[in-house]
Amino acid sequence: MIEKLKEMFKKVYCEEVEKVFFAPGRVNLIGEHTDYNGGNVFPCALTFGTYALIKKRDDKKIRFYSKNFQALGIIQMNIDEIEYDSEHDWANYPKGVIWAFENNGMKIDSGFDILFYGNIPNGAGLSSSASIEVVTGVVLKDLYNFPIHMIDIAKISKEAENEFIGVNCGIMDQFAIAMGKKDCAILLDANTLKYEYANIKLNGASIVIANTNKRRGLADSKYNERRAECERALKDLQTVLPINSLCELNEEEFEKSRYLIKDEVCVRRAKHAIYENQRTLKAVEALGNSDIELFGKLMNRSHISLRDDYEVTGIELDTLVEIAWKTPGIIGSRMTGAGFGGCSVSIVKDEFVDDFIKKASAEYKIKIGYEALFYVAQIGDGARKI
Ligand code: GLA
Repeated sequence: MIEKLKEMFKKVYCEEVEKVFFAPGRVNLIGEHTDYNGGNVFPCALTFGTYALIKKRDDKKIRFYSKNFQALGIIQMNIDEIEYDSEHDWANYPKGVIWAFENNGMKIDSGFDILFYGNIPNGAGLSSSASIEVVTGVVLKDLYNFPIHMIDIAKISKEAENEFIGVNCGIMDQFAIAMGKKDCAILLDANTLKYEYANIKLNGASIVIANTNKRRGLADSKYNERRAECERALKDLQTVLPINSLCELNEEEFEKSRYLIKDEVCVRRAKHAIYENQRTLKAVEALGNSDIELFGKLMNRSHISLRDDYEVTGIELDTLVEIAWKTPGIIGSRMTGAGFGGCSVSIVKDEFVDDFIKKASAEYKIKIGYEALFYVAQIGDGARKI
C-alpha cells in the first residue's frame, strides 16, 4: 500500500517521497467522558490510522493533498498564511498543528509537500481527526528536529483541536495515539498525565468494534453541552468542597454531597463522571487479576451509565450493545468515544466472533434500516516514522 501511495505522491507533486509516517486511530475500552473531568481513561491504539508521505521544500510553500478527499485537490499556502479557512476543510487539522507548534515557540522556516491517506472510518468515533493531528506533529518534529517528547505532541495536537478547530475535547485521543503500544491499553490519569501500560491478555477473546454508520450531525455541540453541565455541577460542589475537578470525589463522597448540585440533570452528569472514573480503576484492577468477566461487567455498567445518566448513546448504539448483551460468548459491550453515533466495543470469546457479527449485522439492519460495520481490532503501536 505504501508503494501505491508513493506513486500517487509522484503523480500529484512530480516529486519523490522523502519520508513516511503513521499515526493510529484509537479505541477506548472504558473511562468515557472522564478525561475533561480530571479522571482516568483506558484507551488503546489500533493498527489502522493515517499515513503521511512527505518531501521538504526549499521555499516557504506548504502543499496538502489527501487520497481520501481527492476532489478537493492540492490545498496550498505559505507558512506565514496559516489560519482557519472553512474552504480548506480537512486540511485545517494539519494546519492547526503547524499553528500550535508555532504558538509553542517552534518556528517552521521552510515548507513541504505532504500527502495523507487514512483508513480509519471518518466520523466513526475512532479519532480520525486526532490521528491526522498527531501524525502531523510527528512529521514536524522529524523535519525540523524539534526536541520534544511524544507527550508534548499529544498536548500540542489537543491545543490545535481546542483552539484552531474549536472542538473542546480532552487529552485522551491525542495521548493514546501518540503513546500507544502494541498489545497494551494505557491507563491515563488525564489530570496529572501519569500513565501506565496494561498488557491486554484476553485469554481467548477478541476486541470487536462495530460502527453504527450513523451520521454524527450535532456531536460537537452536544459534547460541549455535556462539558458545560459537568462544569455547572463542579461549581455547585465547590461552594462547599475544596475540589478542582469532579473525579477527585469517589462514589461515597459524591453521594454525601450531591444535594449541593442544584440542577437534576447536572447531578446525573456528575454521577456518571465520578462512577465511571472509579469503574475504570476497578476494571484495570480486574484485568490485572485476569478477571475478564468482571472487566466485561464493568464495561456493561459503563454503557448503562452513558445511556441513562450521561445520555450520549442513542438508538443505534443501544441497539448494537443490547444485541451483544444477549448474544452467547460476549464478555462485555459498550459504546466507545464521544457517543451520539460512532462505534461500540465488545469483548467476544474467539469461537463466538463470527456468530456475533452475523447475528448483530442482521438484527441491526432490521431494526435501524441500514448496515453496521464490524472490525476485529488489533492493538498497535503509537505514532511513528516508518
Ligand atoms: C472524544 C474526546 C475525548 C473524550 C471522549 C469521551 O473522543 O476527544 O477527549 O472526552 O470523547 O470519553
